[in-house]
Amino acid sequence: TAVDWQPEDAERHGFDHYMLKEIHEQPAALERAIRGRVTPDGDVDLEAFPPGCFSDVDDVQIVACGTSYHAALYARQLLAERGVPTQVFSAGEYATTPAPVSEHTLVIAVTQSGETADTLASIRLASERGARTLAVTNVVGSTAARVCDDAVFIRAGPEIGVAATKTFSSQVAVLTLLRERLAEDITGQRGADRERVLRALERLPGDVQQVLDQSSVESLAARYRDRDGHFFIGRGVAFPVALEGALKFKEITYEHAEGFAAGELKHGPLALVTPDTPVFAVFAGQYDDKTLNNVEEVVSRGAPVVGVGSEESTDVAATVDEFLPIPDTHPVAAGVLANVQLQLVSYHVADLLGRSIDKPRNLAKSVTVE
Ligand code: G6P
Repeated sequence: TAVDWQPEDAERHGFDHYMLKEIHEQPAALERAIRGRVTPDGDVDLEAFPPGCFSDVDDVQIVACGTSYHAALYARQLLAERGVPTQVFSAGEYATTPAPVSEHTLVIAVTQSGETADTLASIRLASERGARTLAVTNVVGSTAARVCDDAVFIRAGPEIGVAATKTFSSQVAVLTLLRERLAEDITGQRGADRERVLRALERLPGDVQQVLDQSSVESLAARYRDRDGHFFIGRGVAFPVALEGALKFKEITYEHAEGFAAGELKHGPLALVTPDTPVFAVFAGQYDDKTLNNVEEVVSRGAPVVGVGSEESTDVAATVDEFLPIPDTHPVAAGVLANVQLQLVSYHVADLLGRSIDKPRNLAKSVTVE
């Protein structure tokens, strides 16, 4: 079921910017995303999607743009971990290089607004070619919700800031639940760690609240606000978080920022790394040792490193110059928590630089032209 929006939900309530308000709304948004969808006995209850409803799906393609594209990459990692063949397309590319689909292909459109033209064009193309389509969206009655065969609502409430924040977290939560249903239907098996995943999701609103209560990134933001470039690295679910960290940073600070798969650094981007390019390394409790090796590569080039990872990762904390802790949890949830720290970094840098945070230059909340 959908949750109706009240007019007062769209006011700033004492926050300087909608973006900051929406960052702080994440615990409540996540609560709504999950509410009623995890049963007391540890099963997933996605209303219109009972067990078996995806049994005839062979493979999944996900189409999305911007921040939603990063949520899609996150979901690809999660689906792959459960053995579901999944491809992700930037929606603008899906129309130009569509992958083969069959009637057993499920094409998922991840779109906050449900109105992004590139994403809608991809859905229409997928339908024409015989695929089954599913929208993961925030807006009940949006075009994506109407055009797709089915829809799942993320219930994040209105997002006014152009830079997407709470909708990313809610998309990941809902895609994680959807992953459990899809993977069970397609592979016939429950993931061995399903219970831990669902417990981590139920804890996530409180864990995000802890990050919001304890995060203090203002002084860090002041140190890194005026640099040649800002790089973000991660692997596994931390890779899309690195991409999202960089996207948020460039969108609202107007400073140069790029995200890379940690393992790709040495294949080119390392040439850009200097003492004037801080590197934000994201650790989600998956393959952390490998990412630590990549951190050593940038440390030896003199770059300052900000690590974001579990408060229990003493080895990470000991290796980086600055450490932004998150509660220790399952990787599925850790990526979301790390992303909240990076949202706050971008926000405070942009605020110090006096940027137009809620309406960055040249950007629109919803891009309705291809
Ligand atoms: C625009 C916004 C982004 C958003 C993207 C996709 O570019 O500025 O913040 O991520 O559209 O939007 P959607 O509504 O499809 O998620």
